[in-house]
Amino acid sequence: MCGIVAYIGPREAYPVILKGLKRLEYRGYDSSGVALLNGDLNVYKKKGKVAELEEMLVGKDVHSHIGIGHTRWATHGEPNDRNAHPHISGSGKLAMIHNGIIENYAQLKQDLLRKGYTFKSDTDTEVLLNFIEDIKENNNCPLEEAVRIALKRIVGAYVIVLIDQEHPDTLITARKGSPLVIGIGKNEHFLASDASPIIEYTKEVVYVNDYELAIIKADELILKNLGNERQTPFITKLDMELAAIEKGGYEHFMLKEIFEQPQTIQDCLRGRLDANGGTITMSGVSKYAEQIMNANRIVMVACGTSWHAGLVAEYIFEELCRINVEVEYASEFRYRNPVINQGDVIIAISQSGETADTLVAIENAKSKGAIIMGVVNVVGSSIARISDTGAYTHAGPEIGVASTKAFTAQLAVLTMIALKIGYEKGTISHDRYLQLVRELDAIPEKVATVLLQADNIRKLAEKYKDATNCLYLGRGYNFPVALEGALKLKEISYIHAEGYPAAEMKHGPIALVDENLPVVFIATKDAYHEKVVSNMQEIKARKGQVIAIINEGDEFTPTLADDVIVVPEADEIVAPMLNCIPLQLLAYYIGVAKNFDVDKPRNLAKSVTVE
Ligand code: G6P
Repeated sequence: MCGIVAYIGPREAYPVILKGLKRLEYRGYDSSGVALLNGDLNVYKKKGKVAELEEMLVGKDVHSHIGIGHTRWATHGEPNDRNAHPHISGSGKLAMIHNGIIENYAQLKQDLLRKGYTFKSDTDTEVLLNFIEDIKENNNCPLEEAVRIALKRIVGAYVIVLIDQEHPDTLITARKGSPLVIGIGKNEHFLASDASPIIEYTKEVVYVNDYELAIIKADELILKNLGNERQTPFITKLDMELAAIEKGGYEHFMLKEIFEQPQTIQDCLRGRLDANGGTITMSGVSKYAEQIMNANRIVMVACGTSWHAGLVAEYIFEELCRINVEVEYASEFRYRNPVINQGDVIIAISQSGETADTLVAIENAKSKGAIIMGVVNVVGSSIARISDTGAYTHAGPEIGVASTKAFTAQLAVLTMIALKIGYEKGTISHDRYLQLVRELDAIPEKVATVLLQADNIRKLAEKYKDATNCLYLGRGYNFPVALEGALKLKEISYIHAEGYPAAEMKHGPIALVDENLPVVFIATKDAYHEKVVSNMQEIKARKGQVIAIINEGDEFTPTLADDVIVVPEADEIVAPMLNCIPLQLLAYYIGVAKNFDVDKPRNLAKSVTVE
């Protein structure tokens, strides 16, 4: 979703901003633009990729030491040059970029139209900018004050960054709900939606809080709240290397991230899971262990792939901890007036830590007395900060829009939490606990074994790439895996795919089955294996094409399947971490075979910062 980058300091601003915009491309966008101040205020913007903007700017005057840049993911107004950011105010002196949505923009626009303002775009951003300018002119006040006054009247979410032709030494920025990081260099400052455009210049960053406004010069950062009181910037050190956000020899980030999984799961377990000693150390969980053990219910709140991780965790927590678990789409939960009792535990699962619906859902639940535990990948993100406690997934930066390594890391963390709580609560035996600790410990190596199948899966992708529909079926722990497999295929290859509980297939989807329908079964050995195999027979009887994910040593299932992918055997509780890998690869290779932009699929955003 929209990405923002800004720079002020001794360097040429344009190359810093351009590189930053490219680093943010993974967030998803449809147009981009920059505004550069060098006496004149030069604004350039273009529909399409950042490379097209770059091409357009060859030979143009881009000299400047202060500038703002933006990648836009359209909300108000179609993706075109006109609606791209930055926007310029009526006077032509202010330029602004914005990530978020101004919900009361229509009313503000009416007021401004009555005052004679005209608009060059369809965006809510241009409305906010002119609203700010109107306040500035009417009150004859500094821009900073006008921004403050305006923001108090705004409903919605935003990060905004403004430059003013009359004050070429200052950037003004403010945040509510959307992400903003400020990098502090030597007499220079970098602003961005996340740390990836900043990491190459400095590791010292400030995460701006909601309702804060910053006045930034090359050598000065003043942070204030909307009440105009100075705030002390809290400087954090980034724990991330540049290599982590580069492709490292892989053709795509998605492939790199799929292949990183033995390592990322290991990183997630490291320092927590001690298979020899049979211990799990998670300080964020220990702090709230009593409350979690005694909770009447746990509610998993998430979106997208993270929601699927929540579904797997539902099965695991109920089995190991005997606590009632509900799994909620954050977007529904936040608006539904859910019953939340004091002491309910909400586990918010999010890769980015910035998903707007998840963020607001937990804010609401927190205000009603729930305990919030964040299972988040991006360190310092909004969800991590608002949570009472939590556990980071430590998967490293995930750039491919379709989530892969973050998902398996979420599963690893959630499994560890459930094991720890179940053991302390006494709802699992010592032997079972130790067995599962060892099973978890063995996962990274088993994932590496699954990855050896990549070439076979690439061949299968060639065979099935022209399918127009696809069904994914599984039962128990593998039902959410089926959902995740179908989501991956949809996202990357634009093939319509549905995940279903294998038995439920008889209540509808079976009507779709004919010789053209590929049906992917997750049919590894678990309590439901025989039932899944029966479901497979039902599909075969109707001439569907069966692709089965099976375990080593299974000799019967291949006799029913058209194609098989073999994964190592594992306890059903940890098996989803293995069984999802071939499905990630299948989606990836089909997307590549169809020549699609697998890292940046159309219309999708990595971090959905608007509701
Ligand atoms: C978007 C991304 C998905 C992700 C979902 C939830 O849709 O494209 O990959 O699963 O948001 O994001 P989160 O960052 O909260 O896990």
